[in-house]
Amino acid sequence: MTTVEDEAPGHPERLEQGPDVGRVIVSEADLQARILELGRRITADYADHPPLLVGVLKGAFMFMSDLSRAISLPAEVDFMAVSSYGSATRTSGVVRIVKDLDVDLADRHVLVVEDIVDSGLTLNYLQRYLLARSPASLEVCALLVKDGQQRTELDLRYVGFHIPAEFVVGYGLDVNERLRNLKAIHAYAGDST
Ligand code: IMP
Ligand code: MG
Repeated sequence: MTTVEDEAPGHPERLEQGPDVGRVIVSEADLQARILELGRRITADYADHPPLLVGVLKGAFMFMSDLSRAISLPAEVDFMAVSSYGSATRTSGVVRIVKDLDVDLADRHVLVVEDIVDSGLTLNYLQRYLLARSPASLEVCALLVKDGQQRTELDLRYVGFHIPAEFVVGYGLDVNERLRNLKAIHAYAGDST
């Protein structure tokens, strides 16, 4: 007997088994546990001045969703979309703002929510861009940091996990817009483009 799952090749339960989805780098359980911890720390640190969470699309959409719910403060949420020129698996450091923030940053306590810091060039650009708008404070919460890859000095207040320097997908992170909807962080096992 065939079930609905058998007939639907793109069914979520099967996405993990795709040929280009490699080993788990950070499991769903580890992600969720760490995000609760980060949420508790942010809640304590920002108790007197609730943050404006600025998510960097598209990669941070899932992290933002879980992190924001782990913060027990009247935080606000906004998003920017940036695209960095380069190939699918390598950034060039040249960043284009595709969608800007909707709110004024003056006197706001801004916490940038990033999916992953690789070379750090995207974040470095964003920090300078946001600082120019005179926020009361500007800090970064990055879910993942790739070890030994940073080409710029970065001050990351909150980090979820340090991971080996290989290309990863899932939990918001894509390869050519695919595999963002994996529940865990996986190594990418397909061709690098
Ligand atoms: P950076 O400017 O080199 O730090 O790269 C930052 C951006 O490149 C991230 O916000 C991601 O969108 C993307 N990126 C870097 N490494 C990976 C990866 O391993 N998988 C998916 N996207 C990545
Ligand atoms: Mg990307």
